[in-house]
Order: sequence, then C-alpha cells, then structure tokens
Amino acid sequence: MRKKLVVGNWKMHGSRAANAQLLAGLKEAGPWNADVAVCVPFPYIAETALALTGTVIAYGAQDCSSHEQGAYTGEVSSVMLQDIGCRYVIVGHSERRAYHAESDQLVADKAKAALAHGVTPIVCVGETRAEREAGQTEAVVKRQLAAVIHTLGHCTGEMVVAYEPVWAIGTGLTATPAEAQAVHAVLRAQLHAATDRSGAMRILYGGSVKADNAAELFSQPDIDGGLIGGASLKVADFAAICRAAAH
Ligand code: 13P
Repeated sequence: MRKKLVVGNWKMHGSRAANAQLLAGLKEAGPWNADVAVCVPFPYIAETALALTGTVIAYGAQDCSSHEQGAYTGEVSSVMLQDIGCRYVIVGHSERRAYHAESDQLVADKAKAALAHGVTPIVCVGETRAEREAGQTEAVVKRQLAAVIHTLGHCTGEMVVAYEPVWAIGTGLTATPAEAQAVHAVLRAQLHAATDRSGAMRILYGGSVKADNAAELFSQPDIDGGLIGGASLKVADFAAICRAAAH
C-alpha cells in the first residue's frame, strides 16, 4: 500500500505575511495520515523551512537547474536546494515547458541533477487539449516519461511522477477519476517495465483538484495523491484535500 502524497504548488503566489498565515494554519490543521509538502517560490524557502520546523510537512521548490554550479545567472541548483533542506523539487511543470521552452531532455536532466543531490524530483507530464482531442494523450505522456527514465536509469524508482493534463490546470476542468486512472495505469506500466520498484512509486494527479473531488480521484488504484495549485493557497481547502488523502 503506497502512502499518499499531497504537494501544494504555490506557483508565483504569496508574500511573507500571507505565507506565515497559510503555514501556521496548516500546522494547526495537521498532521494527516499522508505525506504532505509545499513547493514554494525560491525567496520564501528559508522562511518556510523555519515555519515548518518541528512539523512533518516537507517543503521544496518548483524548479531547479540541470547544472550544479557556475555562470548560470538566475538559476538555482539542486545543490542549493539540498543545502537549504528541500525534500522535493517540481520539474517539467507544463508552465515551464510552455513558457520557458523546456524540452523533455532538459526536464530529465533536471530530475537527474535533483536526485544526485538527494532532492526528490516530482516530474510532471501531461497532454494539451489539442493533443487529447487528437488521441495523442498516451503517446505524449509516454514520450515525456521515457526521456526521464532513459536519463535516470537505475535511479528511476526514486522519483515521483505527476500526471497533469494541461487542459485541467487552473481551468476548473478536471479529468474524471476514470480518465485520470487510465493515464496513471499507462504510466505505471511504463515504470514497471523500467524498474522493479514501480509498485512503490507514487504517481500524483494534478489539475483542478479541489476539496470536493479529491477523495474520488485519490480512491483510484494508481492515483497516489495530488499536486495542488490554486487550492493549496487556502488552509481549509488544502487541509481538506490532505484529509481526503488520509483514507
Ligand atoms: P490547479 O490545481 O490550480 O489546477 O493547478 C494544478 C497544478 O498545476 C499544480 O502543479
């Protein structure tokens, strides 16, 4: 039985004051019988770490460089993320693939850099609406995941995968539990062919997960938790999603 994992992706939201309130609220609301983490903007990681001291809520970042160090202005390395205690880093989010032209191989290299420094990559895959309508969902997510599997090799079993259909992100449209499960099963099979640890790996669903649809999504056999955007910014909503994962 895989323990569920719920990760809040704050994206480019927050302020010192708002974060303090949110984190204090989460501390009060937890703990839950699920693993919980928040992935916050870089400038707030240190304060988040302090605020979460003594709790079981983990924290992480939303991106990292594929390089260890050097003349890469504006980038943040996984060495730095490890230094500051990050457990997780999201890589390959569709917003980075779309707005920063991140390729499958760059995403894979970022995942590899993270693992090399003890930070667990949460590797996002997902199809656009046009790709789904063209019947390409399976081919797209398999291509995205294959690049990572190929690059990670025997470390494949150490990542977390997140299936986030692009058309469901921030739109209020969610894949139905059956639609999401179908893709998760494809991803599980692909992982199974690559590593004998696939049965223990967590595949998260993301895309308009809310308090009222989380339980049904999380009840699917291959959905092991969620990557939560908008609803992770409100204590009551995020806490309810964490509760839904705890069954
Ligand atoms: P929403 O939950 O706001 O749809 O965002 C999902 C997401 O992109 C999480 O990474």
